[in-house]
Amino acid sequence: MIQYVDSAEAVTLDQLHGFFFGWRDPPSPEAHLKLLMNSDYVVLAWDHDTGNVVGFVTAISDGVLVAYIPLLEVLPAYQGQGIGSELVRRMLAKLREFYAVDLICDPELQPFYSRFGMKPHTGMILRNHGSAQTLD
Ligand SMILES: CC(C)(COP(=O)(O)OP(=O)(O)OC[C@H]1O[C@@H](n2cnc3c(N)ncnc32)[C@H](O)[C@@H]1OP(=O)(O)O)[C@@H](O)C(=O)NCCC(=O)NCCS
Repeated sequence: MIQYVDSAEAVTLDQLHGFFFGWRDPPSPEAHLKLLMNSDYVVLAWDHDTGNVVGFVTAISDGVLVAYIPLLEVLPAYQGQGIGSELVRRMLAKLREFYAVDLICDPELQPFYSRFGMKPHTGMILRNHGSAQTLD
C-alpha cells in the first residue's frame, strides 16, 4: 500500500535507495535527504509494506509569487501505477496560491504535466558540472 506524506522528517537514509536512476553522478542518500529537508515543500510516497520511500517531489519558493518544482521521481519498479500523478496533484494543491509554478522537463513529459493544467514554455538553464554539488 502506498502512503503519501508531506514531510521528510521521519525519513532515514536506508529508506532512500534507487533514486536518480540513470544519472551520471547521482547524489548520495545523504545528499538526497538533505535536499528533501531543505526544500520548502515535499511530498513523499512510501511503500507501507517495505518501509521505503518510492517516490518524491520537491518545490522551492519565494513564499510570495513563485514556486519551482525541481525534482520528481518514482522508482522504476513503481512507475506506471499513478504514483507520479498523485505526487504532482498533491504538490500543485500545496502551491495553488502562487501566481507562477514552474518546472523544466523533456518534451516527452509535456503531455504528462499538461494533464494538470500546465502549459509548455521556453526557458534557459545553467549546469555547473564541475561543482561539488553536481547532480547530473
Ligand atoms: C515521470 C514519472 C515521475 C512519472 O511517474 P509514474 O508514477 O510512472 O506516473 P503515472 O503512473 O502517474 O503515469 C501517468 C502517465 O504519464 C505517462 N508517463 C509517465 N512517465 C512518462 C515519461 N517518462 N514519458 C512519457 N510519459 C510518461 C504514463 O505513461 C502515464 O500515462 P497513462 O496514464 O496514459 O498510462 C516517472 O516516470 C519518473 O520518475 N521518471 C524518471 C524521472 C523523471 O523523468 N522525472 C520528471 C522530471 S521533470
